[in-house]
Amino acid sequence: MTNCKISLKPVDIRSKYPDYRDSEFVALFGSLRVDPTMSLTRAAFKRESVRYTTGLSISGVQQKLSIAINEHYQLEAVTTGGNYILKPSPEEFPHAAENEQAAMRTGALLGIPTAGCGLVSFADDEFVYITRRFDRADDGQKLHQEDLVQGFAMLSDNKYDRSYEEAGALILDMTNGRKTVVLDYLRRIIHAYLIGNDDMHLKNTSLQRSAGNTTRFYDFLTPNYDCLFAGAFENRDTGGFLALDMFADGFSDTFEKYGFYTGHDFLELAQRFGIPEKPLRSFVADIANKMPTLTATVDRSYMPVAMKRAANALIADRLRALQLGL
Ligand SMILES: Nc1ncnc2c1ncn2[C@@H]1O[C@H](COP(=O)(O)OP(=O)(O)O)[C@@H](O)[C@H]1O
Ligand SMILES: [Mg+2]
Repeated sequence: MTNCKISLKPVDIRSKYPDYRDSEFVALFGSLRVDPTMSLTRAAFKRESVRYTTGLSISGVQQKLSIAINEHYQLEAVTTGGNYILKPSPEEFPHAAENEQAAMRTGALLGIPTAGCGLVSFADDEFVYITRRFDRADDGQKLHQEDLVQGFAMLSDNKYDRSYEEAGALILDMTNGRKTVVLDYLRRIIHAYLIGNDDMHLKNTSLQRSAGNTTRFYDFLTPNYDCLFAGAFENRDTGGFLALDMFADGFSDTFEKYGFYTGHDFLELAQRFGIPEKPLRSFVADIANKMPTLTATVDRSYMPVAMKRAANALIADRLRALQLGL
């Protein structure tokens, strides 16, 4: 039995595609008629991505394409009006697409609001990561979002220049003091630590407003995006544990003692965010309870075996670290 390239759950034999659950396919693409194999080859993508992404707000670091579903139900690269973002694996990081898909699922399993995403294929069979844009309304209108670098009124180059503590304080400012939003942020930082995602910088967190909110304050974080089991790439020297320093004033005594972040650090961070201990403790307990499901999800993913093994070793190690002090 194959696993769904969206949810990574086993697919029923009666489904239209052997590697997608019907309901999840429709939720992501709107119709079962959409063809998940693109007419584009990887080589054509390389040539065209420059043309299609110049001046696009989604530029980021990795090459990507803006995608729309055309009248023939094909996924087509477009310069305007795209509802999806396509992220192929960079040449230096094979299987990054499969890795990102699995990493995003783990966040969703832990209850973190997560961008709709899945794997589709180039014409030459290579898997590509695709995500549905959450900054587009159903009628195609652009929905405003602001990332934390913009929130700090800094330039993109400075995306590592603040701590999580300061970023949390900014989120409180930007939301007029919404603790639930900063708790959501704390959970996402813990998830990044759990999966060894060492690139959760200020541009990888953004905020949005609810419809009808005309104030300058934001209501919630956008769905989560850009998650990777970074430490599961053979050739990637991850260097640090998290993209940003945890605290504005240096490492904690417990970090100095252990040499890595533990539950003690996250308790301290929660306190500095003004969040009670209880939701933090329940989140880590929930990770522990869901460990068998998380591991099974990694095993059912489309990552190569060595990458799966590294990803599962990572989450097991990091859970132990999180449980110290919690
Ligand atoms: N599903 C999405 N909907 C809307 N915007 C998105 C989505 N995913 C990513 N983005 C935006 O595109 C930017 C680049 O995407 P990201 O996944 O972070 O790529 P990179 O790996 O190049 O940083 C993000 O900083 C975010 O602003
Ligand atoms: Mg990014």
